[in-house]
Amino acid sequence: MILSMIDATVEYRLNNQSVKALDDVTLAMESGEFLAVVGPSGSGKSTLLQALGGMLSPISGEVFIDGTSLYDLSCDKRAEFRRLRLGFVFQTFNLIGYLTAQQNVQVPMMLNGDSTDDQLKRSEYLLEKVGLADRMLHKPAELSSGQQQRVALARTLANDPHIIFADEPTGALDPETGLQVMSFLNDLNQEGRTIVMVTHDPKAAAMASRCIRLVNGKIESLNQTQANPVKFPAE
Ligand SMILES: Nc1ncnc2c1ncn2[C@@H]1O[C@H](COP(=O)(O)OP(=O)(O)O)[C@@H](O)[C@H]1O
Ligand SMILES: [Mg+2]
Repeated sequence: MILSMIDATVEYRLNNQSVKALDDVTLAMESGEFLAVVGPSGSGKSTLLQALGGMLSPISGEVFIDGTSLYDLSCDKRAEFRRLRLGFVFQTFNLIGYLTAQQNVQVPMMLNGDSTDDQLKRSEYLLEKVGLADRMLHKPAELSSGQQQRVALARTLANDPHIIFADEPTGALDPETGLQVMSFLNDLNQEGRTIVMVTHDPKAAAMASRCIRLVNGKIESLNQTQANPVKFPAE
């Protein structure tokens, strides 16, 4: 088992109101799985992804990745764990606007203290891998949204993460570009990487090996495997 969440509850407090965004959720993933998380808006999908990825501490329960209890680590150690071992992809790409595509991909390697030579070589290799060899010196604003998401994918691969967390990675893309990004995610899964992807898109969810649905912070169904695919109702 590469990842597990046990009885996790996440609550947000805003003024005097508290919202239980995850309600006693238990989930386990084997290495190499591609899990899609679907469910209505506000059902806790992003919260689940953040809690799984070490970005949001549950008020109770635990999250383990590769045997490490994420929230038993200090904040610094957890940030380091994330940086070195986990990959993240967001709906809005989260690229740095004043850096070129290549510099954006270099950022995680720079934070690792890799040599400039290594940074340049690996960023070039990764941008080539996502089909952007001829766009390395472009800034995000000079790229289409699909290209920006591919730069974000290249950046997330900088540290060769075994697990990739993607929150609506195709949410801001037109269907055709979305498919292209999905096909890259699929390739990354074929390489053996474990993927957790939140999506609204039934086509994207259908590409995953398993699909869970969240409703009001709880998992509604947990029974879809590649061997036994079941269609889930459209949103
Ligand atoms: N930072 C926050 N502060 C307070 N409430 C939040 C915050 N983020 C999310 N929520 C609430 O938690 C619930 C789950 O949100 P979220 O995980 O973003 O859902 P989804 O990604 O499925 O749309 C929603 O009711 C939302 O309003
Ligand atoms: Mg969300």
